[in-house]
Amino acid sequence: MSKLHWPPARASDLPAISAIAARIHPDLPESPDVFAEKMRLYPEGCRVLVADDRIVGYGLAHPWKQHRVPPLDGFLERLPDDADCLYVHDVAVLPDRRGGAARAYVATIEDLARSTGIATLALVSVYATRPLWERFGFRPVTADAELRAKLASYGESATYMLRDLAAT
Ligand SMILES: CC(C)(COP(=O)(O)OP(=O)(O)OC[C@H]1O[C@@H](n2cnc3c(N)ncnc32)[C@H](O)[C@@H]1OP(=O)(O)O)[C@@H](O)C(=O)NCCC(=O)NCCS
Repeated sequence: MSKLHWPPARASDLPAISAIAARIHPDLPESPDVFAEKMRLYPEGCRVLVADDRIVGYGLAHPWKQHRVPPLDGFLERLPDDADCLYVHDVAVLPDRRGGAARAYVATIEDLARSTGIATLALVSVYATRPLWERFGFRPVTADAELRAKLASYGESATYMLRDLAAT
């Protein structure tokens, strides 16, 4: 497969992003307004995967504070002035378009972080994706009570993970 590109999402991509989210995350629903807010607050981090002229995946990331997890389906309101990580909120790709997609998205977000002086990536791993993220250099972080409470809305398997870009 040729190198996968993740161009910035456009506002008109929102219905396609919401449709993929509803299909891939039926048990972790989020409203289109919540996606739209992220696209408005940090368009550079909101990317789509396009194949054959249609959107087959999306990835959403934004500057945030380490060890803090935005509630699922909640508004960010504003980005922190003293952000110390790029938080990958979600990446989802239609099943028949998987294979190299997450790797390319992470590389895109890594470039974005480095170019903005951010040295850490963060995410919440859901389902059984922890080994996948470990493959890309993310490491699970022991959650304190406050973080555990925030993770609850992401389901039982939720694991908070960080990747130090200086170390790789
Ligand atoms: C997560 C998702 C985007 C990954 O897309 P993808 O195109 O399959 O990802 P990639 O092929 O780029 O990367 C996966 C890497 O992890 C490996 N991998 C895949 N599943 C794995 C697993 N269960 N355990 C360990 N490694 C795994 C792959 O071999 C690959 O590594 P490689 O590039 O060295 O071969 C896709 O599976 C998806 O949309 N899943 C549903 C939504 C989801 O779970 N999103 C993540 C929320 S945290």
